Amino acid sequence: MQQQSLDTIFDEYMKKESLFQNKNLLSTNHNPKNLPHRNKEIRSIASLLAPSLKGNKPSNLFVYGKTGTGKSAVIKSVTEKLREKGEENGTEVKIVYLNCKLRKVADTEYRLVAELARKFGKEVPSTGLPTDEVYERFFDALDDDKRILILILDEIDSLVEKTGDEFLYNLTRVNEELKNSKLSLVGISNDLSFTNDLDPRVKSSLSEEELLFSPYNATQLEDILQSRADKAFVEGVVGGGVVQKCAALAAQEHGDARRAIDLLRVSGELAERSDAEKVRGEHVDRAENEIDRNKVLEVVESQPRQSQAVLWSIINLFEDRDEMIQTGEVHSLYEEVCRTSGLNPLTQRRVSDLISELDMLGIIQAKVTSKGRYGRTRLIKPAVSVNVKNQVKNLLKEKYYFG
Ligand SMILES: Nc1ncnc2c1ncn2[C@@H]1O[C@H](COP(=O)(O)OP(=O)(O)OP(=O)(O)O)[C@@H](O)[C@H]1O
Ligand SMILES: [Mg+2]
Repeated sequence: MQQQSLDTIFDEYMKKESLFQNKNLLSTNHNPKNLPHRNKEIRSIASLLAPSLKGNKPSNLFVYGKTGTGKSAVIKSVTEKLREKGEENGTEVKIVYLNCKLRKVADTEYRLVAELARKFGKEVPSTGLPTDEVYERFFDALDDDKRILILILDEIDSLVEKTGDEFLYNLTRVNEELKNSKLSLVGISNDLSFTNDLDPRVKSSLSEEELLFSPYNATQLEDILQSRADKAFVEGVVGGGVVQKCAALAAQEHGDARRAIDLLRVSGELAERSDAEKVRGEHVDRAENEIDRNKVLEVVESQPRQSQAVLWSIINLFEDRDEMIQTGEVHSLYEEVCRTSGLNPLTQRRVSDLISELDMLGIIQAKVTSKGRYGRTRLIKPAVSVNVKNQVKNLLKEKYYFG
């Protein structure tokens, strides 16, 4: 009997026609060849890196712009073409792409340089050598290679946050030591103020050239989505207005193409799961909710326990009263929560900082009021829908044992 019903599930699934023709084209790992509305940026970067084809060192380049504006996609596409051209012309350019957000690659200076040395075929133990020695191995290997190296450090801000800018300083000086090879750096960041905090020498060296990627507007996002949707979905299953709706929603969120693509993919998945024949506006609404919920849960999970305890207190206070809460009240309940869950309570000042951070993350809303019966104080409440709030509460309770 059980076997039979399993059979039915699989058979029915096989019978169903998917709405997608090639869903992979809407995955964030897919690197499209065609990048509408980035011609200018593609041409600038290509002209800048072109000297490498004649064995000359391109200027260092700093690329910045908000999240989802196509920085990584453009760099990957241009450097891939450069690699091909180099092979064709016999002046091979070495291109190394590192995403500095990946923890195992770039959480210490040692690991990062070791990883680079390994990319040149040098053995480096994962710990134990003096860092200078690891640099030396990397520089030797680089010089033996007798080529131009273009080193792309994507999400470079998270690197500097973790390891400081010593590493960048050393890299920007390396050409003085190399005899046969030359190194060009391409740094990419979505933190627009990133270079402000750098050592001025590092800053001026990294930013020999700078390129800003501005946010896409709704019409541009529509073109981008359409170019990907046409091949990703079965013809005719995307209902009228769906692409436009995804584009408009993502345009409101600082023109983020990643969000637009996620919205369209999740809308398609939801339509498929509910056996709809077409993707419609209502699926986009549901997709938006689902994506936001996952994002909030992810952020909550990544918070330190202290911050989770503060959030737990806010949610509970708000549930009991359903009106905005004051910092002092949060602190009192938080101290109680600390007692029962074995945390060392922080001062009210620190708790106040954590409240500001949660506010910045968009999980709660905290606004200063200067009049009325409260005097000058901050009034706080959760900033997510009731449904998401309940899920956050369950998460904190079940996974982190609050309450
Ligand atoms: N012009 C475009 N045409 C087609 N797809 C695009 C375009 N711009 C961006 N995308 C797609 O949008 C998503 C986000 O782009 P990308 O990863 O390049 O953003 P980013 O600027 O590097 O963002 P972050 O700062 O968050 O790393 C990717 O899936 C990418 O393929
Ligand atoms: Mg990127």
